[in-house]
Amino acid sequence: MDAHELKIEAARVALGEVRSGMTLGLGTGTTSVEFVKLLGAALRDRTLRDIRCTCTSNSTEELARSLGVPLFELAEIAPLDLAVDGADEIDARLRLIKGRGGALLREKIVEQQAKRFIVIADETKIVEKLGAGTLPIEVTPFAREVLERRFTELGFAPVMRMRDGAPRVTDEGNRILDVRVPGDRDIAEVVASIREHAGVVETGFFSNEATEAIIASANGVRRMTR
Ligand code: 5RP
Repeated sequence: MDAHELKIEAARVALGEVRSGMTLGLGTGTTSVEFVKLLGAALRDRTLRDIRCTCTSNSTEELARSLGVPLFELAEIAPLDLAVDGADEIDARLRLIKGRGGALLREKIVEQQAKRFIVIADETKIVEKLGAGTLPIEVTPFAREVLERRFTELGFAPVMRMRDGAPRVTDEGNRILDVRVPGDRDIAEVVASIREHAGVVETGFFSNEATEAIIASANGVRRMTR
């Protein structure tokens, strides 16, 4: 199976956890897209009924709407029965790095409102130590420049996320600084020091939101639970 097929497989297994009548949080990213497509198909052929969903990004909302998935504001349907979303890095304790798709803030808000949050991913997302890649930090536009300087001084090598030659603007109107977690530092400690700064809205470190993960590999699907 190629990477795309593994994402579909993880999404398919996650769909097996959805029951008619549930309220769902829909994630963002290429793996979540597959889940939303399968959900749309299940609603169309009436395998699933009476599902109410909320989205973690405008892009997911657009896709879900185009597929006829019933959408609601988060506050209308929270607490959610289940959230399903991808991740960039997953460690053995089910801690995550998320947000390389830029939706970390709404993702964390929605996933903290869910009784269960299932992460769907292919095995390339499993890491021994979080911070193999960058850690996204969502910051206000006003604070962006000074925080970039400060994080550089602290050794986090921030890079402002760009899109089409301009700063990437999140769905909440903020900017993203992608930082490096120094190899000799624990991510929780780095995140705590980053969060001390006014202007930091949220980080892509999800320390305890995920309750389960469905990991697809060429050898099959395995589940992780907290
Ligand atoms: C978006 C995210 C995504 O869930 C994460 O980037 C994984 O994406 P993909 O499924 O495309 O690998 O956190 O903000």
